[in-house]
Amino acid sequence: MSLTGKQRLAGKTAIITGGGSGFGAAIVKRFADEGATVWVADINMDSAEKSMHAALKGKREGEVIVTPFQVDVSKNDSVRAMMKAFVNAHDGPDILVNNAGITHERAPMEDVSEADFDRVMAVNVKSVYLTARHFVPAMKTRGTGVILNISSTAGISPRAYLNWYNASKGWMITATKTMAVELADSGIRVNAICPVAGDTPLLKTFLGGDTPENRQKFLDTIPLGRFSTPEDHANAALYLCSDEASMVTGVALEVDGGRCI
Ligand SMILES: NC(=O)c1ccc[n+]([C@@H]2O[C@H](COP(=O)([O-])OP(=O)(O)OC[C@H]3O[C@@H](n4cnc5c(N)ncnc54)[C@H](O)[C@@H]3O)[C@@H](O)[C@H]2O)c1
Repeated sequence: MSLTGKQRLAGKTAIITGGGSGFGAAIVKRFADEGATVWVADINMDSAEKSMHAALKGKREGEVIVTPFQVDVSKNDSVRAMMKAFVNAHDGPDILVNNAGITHERAPMEDVSEADFDRVMAVNVKSVYLTARHFVPAMKTRGTGVILNISSTAGISPRAYLNWYNASKGWMITATKTMAVELADSGIRVNAICPVAGDTPLLKTFLGGDTPENRQKFLDTIPLGRFSTPEDHANAALYLCSDEASMVTGVALEVDGGRCI
């Protein structure tokens, strides 16, 4: 809660894709703590339910609404079904967080299989197009909305052997800026966060194996000297999705301990 005691997302509705794990789960919890009605939109329903329970822990019954919803963000029919279910239940969404993301294994670029390339592009790239296709029209009609894309420092300062993942995150930054320009007239803000590596299930792939040596090598590239936490990104997401950021659109905010300097 803010220093004024006012919940910063009171009365807002939000969809967090990939909200079942890692950064997404922390965003779900933080948004619910700040009074938003939140949908935990994840391909894995068990994770979505766990995330819902974590977000509701310690709250009175009915204090906030957190709903798990199964969706595959890479599939048009699935995203359309989520949009229909959402508008039947609530106004909005006021906030859409495109957080679901995957990577291919670290490998020389030419060794990544076509299937893995297609999977990364479908989940990291096509999903942003699909959610825009299905949620932007209602945001335009309402004349308000906030979209937050979870990109990566990989999209700004890429490292070798994650080439197609890095490129998908760079695409996301360009999409964010283009969306921001095109949707500003409609009252819709679009921003991105670029996290540095954080301790989630994805970390071992980014490190090329979770060993103390690989961890230290990576930490040496982060001036503030630690990995990011899901809460770091939830804090940034909260600011960018709240009315406090009403003059902020088209930014790709590095939440990276100085990694991209
Ligand atoms: N962890 C890091 O170090 C790191 C760094 C920079 C950026 N990121 C980005 O942050 C975002 C979240 O990463 P994380 O580390 O929390 O990942 P995670 O693996 O912990 O969580 C990702 C969630 O997305 C869900 N998901 C996967 N495919 C989906 C699909 N097709 N439809 C719906 N849901 C799907 C998974 O079930 C999972 O719950 C990703 O976009 C990732 O690229 C992560």
